[in-house]
Amino acid sequence: MSRWIGTANQGYAAYAVEELRRLLGQLKVTQLAAGEVFLFESPLSREETLEAVQRQLPIFLRHLQPVDRVIEGSGNADDLEELSRVVRNAQLSFVDKQVSIHLRKAKVTVYPYSAADTKAVLDAVLEEIGAETARQKPDMIIAIYAAARQLYVGCGTPAEMLSDWPGGAVRFQREEGQISRAKFKLLEAEREFGLHYEAFQQALDIGAAPGGWTSLLLERGLRVTAVDPGELHPSLNGHPALTYHKRNASDVKLPAEAYDLLVCDMSWSPMQMSRLVLDLQQSLAREATAIITIKLMHRKPLQTIRDVSERLSSAFTIERAKQLFHNRDEITLYLKYRKA
Ligand SMILES: C[S@@+](CC[C@H](N)C(=O)[O-])C[C@H]1O[C@@H](n2cnc3c(N)ncnc32)[C@H](O)[C@@H]1O
Repeated sequence: MSRWIGTANQGYAAYAVEELRRLLGQLKVTQLAAGEVFLFESPLSREETLEAVQRQLPIFLRHLQPVDRVIEGSGNADDLEELSRVVRNAQLSFVDKQVSIHLRKAKVTVYPYSAADTKAVLDAVLEEIGAETARQKPDMIIAIYAAARQLYVGCGTPAEMLSDWPGGAVRFQREEGQISRAKFKLLEAEREFGLHYEAFQQALDIGAAPGGWTSLLLERGLRVTAVDPGELHPSLNGHPALTYHKRNASDVKLPAEAYDLLVCDMSWSPMQMSRLVLDLQQSLAREATAIITIKLMHRKPLQTIRDVSERLSSAFTIERAKQLFHNRDEITLYLKYRKA
């Protein structure tokens, strides 16, 4: 038996629980933040639970925090004292490691301190016991979830927690002149799936307007063919590496076997999207990579994803399916083209 806190995008916790049930068996679940954060008891040990999750990475479970200790919140400095004690007691796990403190708070909680205050106190403890405090790329994370009355504390590696961001909430800096928020989805896909866009040569961006994804790929040095009946942002006009077809995807004639990266972010139904991606396969190079968003318009996202995966698997290997933090009512698929 082991205890965990699971987190999904708002409204998708039920699907994350369903995925976990399929992986782990019967779970005892308590909601901590409606539709988003839940406490659960796995029938498996910590190691077995981690192994099952890693074997088949979930789509909707965004973050997985072990619960090693539960502290009854007192609402005053005793909480910081108790947290410091927990960190000191776990000393051996942290010596010579880069350690980050992640605090998340429920909307209503007795715990009065901010993430910055908590970090300041616990970082001092970490230094005292010979650990290094890390801002980015930690070896270990000490995660604290401050619920209404309890503080749930657990430590693990970023891979075990499925993210190196608190609760899996990936934050990117908005840039000056950024064309669309959609750009964050492609940036997050790059991190999440361990891709290096600069390793590709020729990208095809279907449903490209206003051009957030196209602009990212151009920044990474790719040649990009953008297709959309809508207007691209004027800042992209005349870019030497950009070819722009201002039309519907179905009306454009594309060269054969030309693109090693296909990206597709149209708010289309999952089945239309699958058909479109399959129709585009002649223009893809051998082993091309595809990143596509799939809108979840139905009540049964798990079934929808199964149907889409089945259709696409006639020509693509599905490397990963994941609801990214920046996906709203959609998921992102990472595919590899298998030429017949
Ligand atoms: C969510 S937006 C894409 C945002 C874009 N990824 C970005 O980063 O700025 C969806 C786009 O799909 C386009 N679209 C819808 N149907 C299309 C079709 N049949 N062919 C090409 N583009 C289409 C829409 O015009 C719209 O611009």
